[in-house]
Parts: sequence; C-alpha cells; structure tokens
Amino acid sequence: MSMDRLITLHQPKRLEIGAGSCAKLGEMEAARPLVIASRPTAQYVDRLGLSGQLLVIDDVPPEPDLPAFQSVLERARAHRPDLVVGMGGGSVLDITKLVACLWDSGQSLREVVGPNRIQGRRTALVQVATTAGTGSEAGIRALVTDPETKSKLAVESPYMIADLAVLDPELTYSVPPAVTAATGVDAMAHCVEAFTNIHAHDLVDGYARMGISLVGRYLKRAVADGTDTEARAGMMLASYYGGICLGPVNTAAGHALAYPLGTRLSLPHGLANAIIFPHVLAYNAPAARAKTAEVAQALGLAAQGDLTAEAVGFCRELGIEMRLSVHGAKETDLSRYAEDAHAIRRLMDNNPREMSVADVLAIYRNAF
Ligand SMILES: NC(=O)c1ccc[n+]([C@@H]2O[C@H](COP(=O)([O-])OP(=O)(O)OC[C@H]3O[C@@H](n4cnc5c(N)ncnc54)[C@H](O)[C@@H]3O)[C@@H](O)[C@H]2O)c1
Ligand SMILES: [Fe+2]
Repeated sequence: MSMDRLITLHQPKRLEIGAGSCAKLGEMEAARPLVIASRPTAQYVDRLGLSGQLLVIDDVPPEPDLPAFQSVLERARAHRPDLVVGMGGGSVLDITKLVACLWDSGQSLREVVGPNRIQGRRTALVQVATTAGTGSEAGIRALVTDPETKSKLAVESPYMIADLAVLDPELTYSVPPAVTAATGVDAMAHCVEAFTNIHAHDLVDGYARMGISLVGRYLKRAVADGTDTEARAGMMLASYYGGICLGPVNTAAGHALAYPLGTRLSLPHGLANAIIFPHVLAYNAPAARAKTAEVAQALGLAAQGDLTAEAVGFCRELGIEMRLSVHGAKETDLSRYAEDAHAIRRLMDNNPREMSVADVLAIYRNAF
C-alpha cells in the first residue's frame, strides 16, 4: 500500500459537467469579466452569457511562449478584470491561471517558476475546457515555453486552482479528429504515468483507473464522430481525472521524452505524448507488471504478444501518424533529444524503471 505517503490534492471549488453546462457562467456576478481564448474557441464565448464590461482576448497560440503570455498579461492589466475565464485547451487554460494570479501583482513570470512561488491572491478564476487532454482545468500547474532555452517553464501554485471548472462536451464537438486522438492519448498518459509512478498513491490510482477505463471506452468513438456527446463527455471526464493525477503524483519518463519533441521539433504536446506513450508503457512493464496489464486490458490490447506493437496499433487506429521521421525528425537529432529528456529529472526520477541516456535514445530510434 502507498497510503503511508503524505499527499495534498487540490481540486476546483466547484465543477459543472454536462452538455450546455457552460451557460452556468451567466449566474456569475462580474462587472469587468475577461475571457481568454484562442481563435477556434472564441466562437463559444456568447454561450457563457456573461454581462458587464466584457473583454475577450482570443489570440492565445498553441504551446504559448513567454512573449505570448506577456502580451495577454498587458491587455489584462489595462482591463483590470474582476473575473478571469479561460476558454480553450491546455494552452489557453495555463495562460489564464497565470494571468489571474499575476495581472495585479509585482511578480514576473520568471520569478514564480517552480513550486509555491506565487505570493498572495488572485482574481476569481473560471476554467472552461475545450479539449479533452491536459486536464489543466483540474490542476495547479501552468507551462509556458521559454524562447531562449526552448524548454517549458513550469509554475505550480495552489493559488492557480480554479473557483469553477466547466466540462461541457458540446464545446469539444469542433476539435478535429487528429487533435481529439492526440489529446486523448495525452489524457491517458497522465493517468498511466501517475498509476505506474514510483510515487503512486492509492487515492490517485483510483482516479487513474477511472480515466484509463474511460479512454478505453470512449476515445475511438469521439474520434469517429465528434458530435457523439456521450463519448465527448466521457473523454472530458478522463482528461479531468488525468489532471487530478498530475497534481500530487505527476507524470514520469513518457512526458520527459515527449518534451524535446515539443520544444525542438515543435510537435503539439498531445501528439508528442501519443508518439512516445506505447514505447514507455512497454519499457516500464517489467517494473510495473500488474498495473501495466490493467492498462492493456482497459485499452483492449491483446494480453500476449508485443506490447509496444499493440499500443502503437491502438494509436494508429485513431489515425495518429506514429513515426517521428514523418514528423520531420532527423536521425542525427535523436541523441540531442535523448540528452534533453534524460536531464528532465523532475519527471525522470518518477519513473518506475531506471532509464539511461542510451535507453532513451533506443526509444527515440524505435519511434523513428
Ligand atoms: N497545466 C497542466 O497541468 C498541463 C499538463 C499538460 C500539458 N499542458 C500544456 O497544455 C498545452 C497543450 O494543451 P492541449 O493539448 O489541450 O492543446 P491546445 O490547447 O494547444 O489546443 C490544440 C489545438 O486545438 C485548438 N482547439 C482547442 N479547443 C478547440 C475546439 N473546441 N475546437 C477546435 N479547435 C480547438 C487550439 O486552438 C489549438 O490549435 C501545452 O502548452 C502543454 O505544455 C499543461
Ligand atoms: Fe500531457
């Protein structure tokens, strides 16, 4: 049992789930609401029913970097909001958390990188998820790319937990099948990497199991028919559970290996994780036999046979191109990725099986 380990779990104060649930925001009293969105998600702002002097910022790019954050922050400062709403995927929700904490503060983003560095207070915060992937709406972390080092700056603070999180499956109908597939595997990776983590905890295992089983049940359906409300809702829950897993336990080698593919090869976070997921699942199997078998069963993978091939097949059936070479990677770059990934100790040290630089390189070669 892992219950002798102390953990802290932060969750949004209130959760609204279900088709049409985003209209609940209309009940919120705010004189100067600010909605932060991206171009594809701004179309949904009217559904929130917000009144008052509303400012909509709709240009958060995917995988935002520091200048993108700074640009949103400056406009937020000029507006002086009394309610900050994020409406988007992880890229938007992460920026929104930081803006809610920092627009009225003397601290810069660089000053708050790391755990528990944010001082004081924040504006009321609502997170409306529009992808089923990161589970960012459930958590206390935000990631912004540092344009100088090309690595992700990770901020973690209990102040960034939402007052209200909204999981409205209708807002995910418009997510294209390729993004649905990749972000869905990312959600699963959060659950699996926490589940097989050396810091696994029974409380988090419960959420991880629910998330993994929902992905097994609903991801194929959500990719095949984007307006399948039940499947979309199931995936939003899976993503939310994955977000809970990220809080007290976090991910491990899978995410560490995915990061260089994002920062150096510019692959979206979900896709990078989908490509890596099968390889790390199989690599870790000898160190987490029973739990890996549970994952394989939930995903409908054959119990016997080559687990890597089985899990790659699962992702391919979702339409994900799994070969790094097709995504523009050069074989000569792989050793640099391997060094980068191996150096992300905050995640690598969570992995149930030791991984050397050579092991990491072998995985990249296999995925090539
Ligand atoms: N906070 C955390 O705990 C955490 C965890 C993992 C990843 N992340 C971060 O989250 C980001 C990735 O988030 P993501 O995977 O959700 O992708 P994303 O937010 O970048 O969205 C992917 C693409 O889909 C578009 N999109 C979003 N919702 C849509 C909708 N409803 N209809 C049509 N298009 C839509 C976006 O504009 C974007 O182009 C990365 O920056 C990553 O580092 C954060
Ligand atoms: Fe992720």
